[in-house]
Amino acid sequence: MNSYIRTKKYDVDFLKQNMMGPNSMIVLEELTRDNPLKQGMRILDLGCGKGLTSIFLAKEYNLQVFAVDLWVPATENLNRFKQMNVNNLIIPLHADALNLPFAEGYFDAVISVDSYHYFGNNDSYFDKKLRPLLKKDAWVAIAFPGMQYEVHDSIPEEMKSFWDEESLSKWHSIEWWKPKFENSLCKFTIKEMECFDKAWNDWLSTNNPYAVEDRGMINTDNGRYMNFISVTGNAI
Ligand SMILES: C[S@@+](CC[C@H](N)C(=O)[O-])C[C@H]1O[C@@H](n2cnc3c(N)ncnc32)[C@H](O)[C@@H]1O
Repeated sequence: MNSYIRTKKYDVDFLKQNMMGPNSMIVLEELTRDNPLKQGMRILDLGCGKGLTSIFLAKEYNLQVFAVDLWVPATENLNRFKQMNVNNLIIPLHADALNLPFAEGYFDAVISVDSYHYFGNNDSYFDKKLRPLLKKDAWVAIAFPGMQYEVHDSIPEEMKSFWDEESLSKWHSIEWWKPKFENSLCKFTIKEMECFDKAWNDWLSTNNPYAVEDRGMINTDNGRYMNFISVTGNAI
């Protein structure tokens, strides 16, 4: 049983104010549980949102992190990194994952929590856009919401009012995602994450209007359809 000891050190109100979905810090704590992160590595935090995962990497592992996001301005993230005293380690950047401004072979690792499904939900993203920026053997750790199976052709009646077409186009099963990575990563794993209930409950307990909206969906789903999926491996 994972008690998320590292995340517990952080102020709960700070986390709640900066969550943009299921608690990304505990998702990252589970992702990095048996990780190969070492001081001196250069990490890409792709789709970092308000930077909770970048803060975790800097504070817990003392790593240099490039915190890239599209919706959250870099200056807003810089202020948060200053508030947390990690602005010397984290470089905030406003950029689109489809057009990243980095040299080839630049990163020792990429992590991406609750954002990859927005831009990487196709057959070419990893190989064409992301892999070129990674060193050979770079560690890849990605987590995103998905489905326990492909529900798309027969959507359960009780979920129809909660799932819109756009979300469904991004939420898929492990079987759907597997071919997007399996030939590009060695030591490849793809699995359902343990933190589903806790990550969602932490998010649903915030007053964020999107969280309030999500409460009905998660309660009605009741563990039947939705999933949180992790992908790890080393770039070939
Ligand atoms: C649900 S939020 C999650 C943010 C953060 N990772 C977290 O878990 O708190 C999804 C994030 O994906 C980012 N995103 C979506 N499309 C993107 C793109 N094309 N390039 C970069 N980031 C993107 C958004 O800017 C947003 O911050």
